[in-house]
Amino acid sequence: MRVLVSGGAGYIGSHTVLSLVAAGHDVVVVDDYSNSKPTVVGRLEALSGVHVPVHAIDLTDAGKTERLFAQERIDAVVHFAGYKAVGESVAKPLDYYRNNLDSTLSLLEAMRRHDVHRLVFSSSATVYGEHAPVPYTEDYEHLSSSSPYGQTKVMIERIMTDVAAADPRLRVALLRYFNPVGAHPSGQIGEDPQGIPNNLMPFIAQVAVGRRDKLTVFGDDYPTADGTCERDYLHVEDLAAGHVAALEHLDDMVAPVRAFNLGTGTGTSVLAMIQAFERAVGRELPYEVGPRRAGDLPAFWADPTRAQTELGWQAVKTIDDMCADTWRWQQANPQGFPDA
Ligand code: UD1
Repeated sequence: MRVLVSGGAGYIGSHTVLSLVAAGHDVVVVDDYSNSKPTVVGRLEALSGVHVPVHAIDLTDAGKTERLFAQERIDAVVHFAGYKAVGESVAKPLDYYRNNLDSTLSLLEAMRRHDVHRLVFSSSATVYGEHAPVPYTEDYEHLSSSSPYGQTKVMIERIMTDVAAADPRLRVALLRYFNPVGAHPSGQIGEDPQGIPNNLMPFIAQVAVGRRDKLTVFGDDYPTADGTCERDYLHVEDLAAGHVAALEHLDDMVAPVRAFNLGTGTGTSVLAMIQAFERAVGRELPYEVGPRRAGDLPAFWADPTRAQTELGWQAVKTIDDMCADTWRWQQANPQGFPDA
């Protein structure tokens, strides 16, 4: 298939581009580089051995999105592009609703006009909200999220469901990611957050490489085995493989719109992640325990049964793989991707 990857220069998008090419698909990237660097693309081309065409446009511009679809033959869309920082979304909700919703609407309209009927969407476990029983299963109905960022995921899932109800040709896979970490084993691409990292793994990696003094563990008084929060971390390469599996399964789905959890099914605590990263680095890493972070849930992980039975997909990489690959990437690129 010829696959349009929105946000293909970003962290998960770039790894998925490589997996799509490896699986024999042609890829076209659309990315406005608002949270990524153009130098990612050269690395993707070197690793994949193919030319990766890029449209550097903002998808909230419906006219430009329409012209992209008029220029390119596209069989399917994998939609990653969007703002994703939880805290920032609380401070700037309008930016998040405007960007994440408008870009999705432009894409859906262009897909309809150009008869593109296959869509894979980058959703999040955040849609399960605060009250879903753990492990999370896809048929949980009361989707909600405590942040505007998460709420855009809930709303976009709903929009896609409604659009598919009105267009019997449309097939949509809603992929609910748990906590993606790790990097390509080459060390050439990985997560490159701008500014101070919000998420645990990039923060630990920057402490390990000396860019930050120490990690703060956000609370150790949770009702968990060691008192720190537990999350379902999965390797970004497994996650990328999940997108290929979902894309190739779209035409055979049991329903026109189907949600899939992409996780391992196991929770790992913050302290266990620090210890795993220390094993990868070969020395102790400085951390202190601080107060809880507002909005954090004590523990959640996926029930990944549906993805296993229907997509034939399963996460195979271990926590130690995730840490070793993150560390390789961070060492080779202590400041992330170069500007040019
Ligand atoms: C966060 C978002 C989630 C989003 C996901 C991917 C929140 C509440 N949730 O998930 O909606 O989909 O990122 O971007 O922000 N931690 C520390 N110290 C740190 C950073 C994190 O102790 O410096 C802890 C957190 O308290 C948490 C765990 O590490 O228990 C994982 O945090 P993080 O990587 O931010 O992921 P989530 O909060 O699970």
